[in-house]
Amino acid sequence: MDTPESIFIGAGERPQHLLLKYANRHGLIAGATGTGKTVTLQVLAEGFSRAGVPVFLSDIKGDLAGLSQTGTPSPGFDERAAKIGLGDIGYQASPVTFWDLFGEQGHPVRTTISEMGPLLLSRLLDLSEAQEGVLSIVFEIADREGLLLLDLSDLQALLTFAAENSKEISSTYGNVTSASVGAIQRKLLTLRQQGGENFFGEPALQLSEFMRTTWDGRGYVNILAADKLMATPQLYATFLLWLLSELFEELPEVGDPQKPKLVFFFDEAHLLFDDAPKALVDRIESVVRLIRSKGVGIYFVTQNPIDLPDRVLGQLGNRVQHALRAFTPRDQRVVKSAAETFRANPAFTVSETITQLGVGEALVSPLEAKGVPGIVERALIRPPASRMGPITRDERLEIIAKSPVGTRYDNAVDRESAYEILKKRGDEAARESAEEREKAEKSPARRVSTRQSAGAAFGTSFLRSIASALGRAIVPLILTFIGAKAAGGRSTTRTASASSSRQSVGEAFGKSVARSIGTSVGKQISRGVLGSLSKGIK
Ligand SMILES: Nc1ncnc2c1ncn2[C@@H]1O[C@H](COP(=O)(O)OP(=O)(O)O)[C@@H](O)[C@H]1O
Ligand SMILES: [Mg+2]
Repeated sequence: MDTPESIFIGAGERPQHLLLKYANRHGLIAGATGTGKTVTLQVLAEGFSRAGVPVFLSDIKGDLAGLSQTGTPSPGFDERAAKIGLGDIGYQASPVTFWDLFGEQGHPVRTTISEMGPLLLSRLLDLSEAQEGVLSIVFEIADREGLLLLDLSDLQALLTFAAENSKEISSTYGNVTSASVGAIQRKLLTLRQQGGENFFGEPALQLSEFMRTTWDGRGYVNILAADKLMATPQLYATFLLWLLSELFEELPEVGDPQKPKLVFFFDEAHLLFDDAPKALVDRIESVVRLIRSKGVGIYFVTQNPIDLPDRVLGQLGNRVQHALRAFTPRDQRVVKSAAETFRANPAFTVSETITQLGVGEALVSPLEAKGVPGIVERALIRPPASRMGPITRDERLEIIAKSPVGTRYDNAVDRESAYEILKKRGDEAARESAEEREKAEKSPARRVSTRQSAGAAFGTSFLRSIASALGRAIVPLILTFIGAKAAGGRSTTRTASASSSRQSVGEAFGKSVARSIGTSVGKQISRGVLGSLSKGIK
């Protein structure tokens, strides 16, 4: 049985509970295919929902959609329940919101190029180191000028500009070759063909949508349809990373709460780390470490625990290890190292038991009082209260129609209004950036701003050349910028509206032209750990 402080997961010699208080110290669900990982995930998601904790998970095979329906009693379930001392399975549907990057099986999810940032985009496009360098430069220029990029077309336009002005850019920022730019452009094209452009645009997802509870205090389970998405594992992994980084940037510090604010399940978690450059792994590692104090628990689901980097694995406190096979020497090594991560139980040898576990049975070790790993126990996992397996199209449509998200995201907005929305968020990131700079300037260890002035000077010429790249009509807007810079001195803390008479001319017909490449907040914008826009909400 659940208690007010814990979720019941199953029982062996003793009942096993996941303590809500330590649920933000992350977790791991591992095991070979068909051993019960998905059902364990379902059981945990239901438990969190009952405890009032919203959940996010991805549904790779469509079999987690059943969370939205009441379970069907079966003799097998009754038998299992009896064995583990669960008097009442309590069949019940969980409150579910469906999401889908392609907008077919749930509410669409979108973000913008500016918000995703160079680090994750490089990963998404699978760029080489040199290409990644070029993309970072392009973003640095855009960020410094407060130029916002909405979708793939904006990025393409900026890349074209960079190629045409590579000489000038290279001398200030670093090497930009047309070969690299060409390669990035080709990869953008592939991404487009894979349907990636659905994902970039407005209205972008508001994370508060994921934090909902029902009127009777149950947490919503947010299910991302990922069957089609898995055809492009790079897009899948980058999308989830972007979500993590947004959560990290937006949520306030809460220390160690009585229960998590949100629990995030990362299925097929090895995809995050396959061929990931060290820099990215480092960032992921720090986000995982730091997000805990924002009340977010992350549960990685994967076949072999050694698919995850040690430093990440070491942070996953609550563990459920399903059966592993031990046919090959490699298998045996995996079993051995998985066994070593548990606090031993004198009653059995962990490495032997791992290979003998039945379906829906696992070695369980949740964190105990004071956050210490519990002695590992062999336990039968409880049957889920919601339906195990997929749902029909009609059942899905009914849930979507009733969803509190409504029609807010159903249609992409046109580029004009999309920029308006994006600009608002860009303004926030710019304000944050300006505040930080002000703080830095007040501090005694202030750095001399030679580099900045070089940058500002370049910025001016950069804008001039953008103007020539885009045609004459943009010139007035550019002049507005330059005017602001001249008048402001410390241009980054001023807005374009703070300056000279030339601006009114600029405003008259410049702005809409600027939109052919992006819109501008007129100020430098800043980025967080994984490179998404920092939001300044602390
Ligand atoms: N806790 C459980 N209670 C009842 N049946 C279970 C449980 N765990 C697994 N099963 C059975 O095992 C099957 C495979 O489990 P699943 O979670 O899909 O495996 P995996 O995700 O590891 O491939 C399920 O369809 C179900 O029939
Ligand atoms: Mg599964």
